Amino acid sequence: MTVNDYDAMAAAYSEDNERNPWNALYERPAILALAGDVRSLHVLDAGCGGGAHAAALVERGALVSGFDFSERLLALARLRLGTQVPLVRADLRASLPYADARFDLVLSALVMHYVEDWSTPLREFRRILKPGGRLVFSVHHPFMDHVLAKGEDYFATYAFEDSWERDGRKVTMRFWHHPLSAMLGALHTAGFSIEHITEPMPLECARSKFPDAYRILTTAPRFLFFSARTQ
Ligand SMILES: C[S@@+](CC[C@H](N)C(=O)[O-])C[C@H]1O[C@@H](n2cnc3c(N)ncnc32)[C@H](O)[C@@H]1O
Repeated sequence: MTVNDYDAMAAAYSEDNERNPWNALYERPAILALAGDVRSLHVLDAGCGGGAHAAALVERGALVSGFDFSERLLALARLRLGTQVPLVRADLRASLPYADARFDLVLSALVMHYVEDWSTPLREFRRILKPGGRLVFSVHHPFMDHVLAKGEDYFATYAFEDSWERDGRKVTMRFWHHPLSAMLGALHTAGFSIEHITEPMPLECARSKFPDAYRILTTAPRFLFFSARTQ
């Protein structure tokens, strides 16, 4: 069985991601707010998917590069972004194809919970960031995924599966639950100091457009957002 098969659902995933309340009215606005003013900054979108964040970063004046594991999502991102955004296939669990101190900011949206061991990606992010550069990322909130997974031990790092339906097909997704203390420890060990950890609210317009999602997002944790700086 293939898990996390973004290639199989690339178009449907990308289209849904563009407009659903979780991504469009909650995750993207929140992480872009955390990124702040990116004008003229060299920014890497790590796990760029179909390129929605990269497009928003370009619009805000950043010089953007991106990578992802899924060839098909990369193809959609290329169509959307053109040649102004260099995109490559790379795996967060291995060395990244970028020079040391290349970026001012690494932004990674909803990708780290696909990775069991954060030491390699965080070490690589630190290497490719300039001294004092920032890492801004979002992940499944550990209190949400522990409930979703019906996990037995919150303090353990463990994998769990969920079933998504896209384009009428069921896709098995496998995520890694990390307790908050493990996330903080991994950032500290990799040489990052944490600036902000946020539990944002959705945009107010979600209240009337998507009342059910709005109620869920304003009453229970969903994603957790970090801003950390290289020491
Ligand atoms: C939930 S999607 C998020 C996509 C995009 N960042 C967004 O928020 O719209 C997760 C993305 O992580 C990518 N991904 C998963 N594991 C990866 C890995 N080991 N290395 C690189 N990308 C990975 C997937 O291909 C997918 O594009």
